[in-house]
Amino acid sequence: MSLPIDLAVIGGSGLYKFPGLENTERHAVNTPYGAASGDVVLGDFAGKRVAFMARHGESHSLPPHRVNYRANLWALHSLGARRVIGVNAVGGIRADMGPRVIVVPDQIIDYTHGRYTSYCDVEGAEVKHIDFSEPYTRALRQSLVAAAADAGIAVIDGGCYGATQGPRLETRAEIARLKRDGCDLVGMTGMPEAALARELEIDYACLALVANFAAGCGDEEEISIEEIFAHLAAATAEVPKILAALLKS
Ligand code: HPA
Repeated sequence: MSLPIDLAVIGGSGLYKFPGLENTERHAVNTPYGAASGDVVLGDFAGKRVAFMARHGESHSLPPHRVNYRANLWALHSLGARRVIGVNAVGGIRADMGPRVIVVPDQIIDYTHGRYTSYCDVEGAEVKHIDFSEPYTRALRQSLVAAAADAGIAVIDGGCYGATQGPRLETRAEIARLKRDGCDLVGMTGMPEAALARELEIDYACLALVANFAAGCGDEEEISIEEIFAHLAAATAEVPKILAALLKS
């Protein structure tokens, strides 16, 4: 089934329903890769057709390492989505990437393990070596940055997303290593999502919402999960405004 879908959104922690999505219909998609995180919710938003999926499930029941990234992207693609924005909660490593800052990253370093990272590892599948020099679709990233400016919302253009395994947060030594490696942000769900999107030839970009300073990067001794969710709620409220501007551009 291919439906007219202008944009798909994969919601991360704190974004389980897309606010303002109207006249919704739910699609439970069977995929060759098993169950997706949940139904795709398709509806009207800002005068366009928008598909939404909650990456961790609508009741946040799936930890980052158990998300079926392949099934999620397959489900969206099979319904007709060709442009996807991944919304991801992250920790900030760079000094200007503190809580509530929104970043549109342009690079990734993948530290995850044991996840299904490709559609090629199914018997008989064609082996595809995608170019991943630039992991996010440049034009879509640029449109997102421009849309945020149109909406009057500050975002940082560019940054390197370090994808860790989770579900635990990192040690200070791990974050110090990520920093030496050149990571500006750390999150648990950016990969393999971005690579799978590229394999399916989906345009993909990320809105990274900073929930906390990563371990050892802020003044705090410990990271409070309550604070993470409070900061996330504040940053998440800006997401529909940015996406409405994107859809109007
Ligand atoms: N580390 C990894 N993932 C995260 C963090 C963090 O500090 N905060 C929100 N997601």
